[in-house]
Amino acid sequence: MLVENPSVVDNPLRAGLSETRTVAPCIMVIFGATGDLTQRKLLPALYSLAADQPPLPANFTVVGVARRPWSDEEFRQYAEDGVKEFARQPYDPALWETFAKGISYCQVEFDDDAAYRTLTEKLTQLDQERGTNGNRIFYLATPPRYYDDIVQRLGAAGAVERTTTGPSFSRLIVEKPFGHDRESAMRLNAELNQVFKEDQIYRIDHYLGKETVQNILVLRFGNGIFEPIWTREYIDHVQITVAESIGVEGRGGYYEEAGTLRDMVQNHMLQLTTLVAMEPPAGFAANLVRDEKVKVLHAIMPMSIDEVAECTVRGQYGPGWIGSQEVPGYREEKGVAPNSPTDTFVAAKIAIDNWRWAGVPFYLRTGKRLPKRISEVAIQFKRPPFSLFRNTGADELQPNILSMRIQPNEGIALKFGVKAPGQAMHIRTMNMEFLYGSSFGGEPPEAYERLLLDCMVGDSTLFTRRDETEAAWELVDAIEAGWQTEPDANPVELYDPGTWGPRRAEEFIERDGRSWRRL
Ligand code: BG6
Repeated sequence: MLVENPSVVDNPLRAGLSETRTVAPCIMVIFGATGDLTQRKLLPALYSLAADQPPLPANFTVVGVARRPWSDEEFRQYAEDGVKEFARQPYDPALWETFAKGISYCQVEFDDDAAYRTLTEKLTQLDQERGTNGNRIFYLATPPRYYDDIVQRLGAAGAVERTTTGPSFSRLIVEKPFGHDRESAMRLNAELNQVFKEDQIYRIDHYLGKETVQNILVLRFGNGIFEPIWTREYIDHVQITVAESIGVEGRGGYYEEAGTLRDMVQNHMLQLTTLVAMEPPAGFAANLVRDEKVKVLHAIMPMSIDEVAECTVRGQYGPGWIGSQEVPGYREEKGVAPNSPTDTFVAAKIAIDNWRWAGVPFYLRTGKRLPKRISEVAIQFKRPPFSLFRNTGADELQPNILSMRIQPNEGIALKFGVKAPGQAMHIRTMNMEFLYGSSFGGEPPEAYERLLLDCMVGDSTLFTRRDETEAAWELVDAIEAGWQTEPDANPVELYDPGTWGPRRAEEFIERDGRSWRRL
């Protein structure tokens, strides 16, 4: 690995902070190359990295692998269409031509040993032609049922370098869903570990690649003023919202298996929770950061059946209208059973049992077909201990709220009370706001760009470790068990598209004397 900031990188505790990260030539082998993710996210991200400063090495190489009998040319065309439509960087024919020279395709039936031997020979040949030195990143973007087959056969065909110290590297990126519950995640971890060591495995959660999500750490640990008040003494509660206006978008079959609990809560929502709640790490090295995140997950006690009934709400979108557009209900989506009980909305109250957070609820809500696409983390502070301004309109006083907007209109806002000009003592709540767009201009890199580059330079800080995934599943399994055991305590309530989810989601937070933020 060539890295140009020795002062930072020499110190392993600061490894994740290196400023310039130069990528060694390598081959990225994408399994599931003819799928949506490859065309919409992966190839556009790689192209944007090739167009960035510093760019990917000109001999960076991509091998698409899938079952369809495509030629190199067909795959390149598929890639080019994706780049034109989805890449952050504008399409540049000259750059495309160089980039496309490194793209090829290999047809593989995922259970055919001989095909893996052919693939391995192809990789060795490409190493010679393109000077990629045996460096390989395997990307699993297929349906998860093939993960084990692919990994075992890659291992058997000798395509994977087991050492992590070189001279060449092999790494594995695994897409979500990572297992279906804790048991299957543990099984998958064990299977992957037969071929790849833990520090060769990069479990991707694209939320961690979002600029604003990483900024949660900078806000907390790069400033002196927030951390001292980031505790139960000053914080009343935390709200994390990830709302989407889209429905399941043709992924009914997958959603029937997953539901929002597995699709969004197990990964993105709990990852956001760990970043907000973790203790300052001893350094910014991957394992130090992840040690702190996993401690948060361990401090969240899995809910009992009664707690699930009390602390969670699930809903499903019905048919209706969003603006002037008529939209189908979840049960009318392709691949969905007409009486499906699958959740497309989840709200949950989570308790983190440690010194910093005891007694401070974390309210999470996420769903599809909500009024808009918006994700934010809001820290609501306690009110002043007594009201000096009573009888002066102070009853209108709102609590201070620090909100971190993850998307869209990325930014940070702080709400506080000010005296409205005039003879009377009227207090108004105002917003102090920082917006990424107006301060920095331009488009921030896509989450996948950041994460693919991190993997290329061997930095796994923003990827989930084995124990993190398993701990997150334990919490989710407990909720699922509660729903299964007492379905009537927590029925799936239908909600109208374009609303903030089922009525019970409002009641459940109001019971605590609080309310969801109006977004
Ligand atoms: C994915 C989920 O992980 O995240 C999707 O599978 C969801 O269902 C998506 O739509 C949301 O990601 P983003 O980046 O659009 O907020």
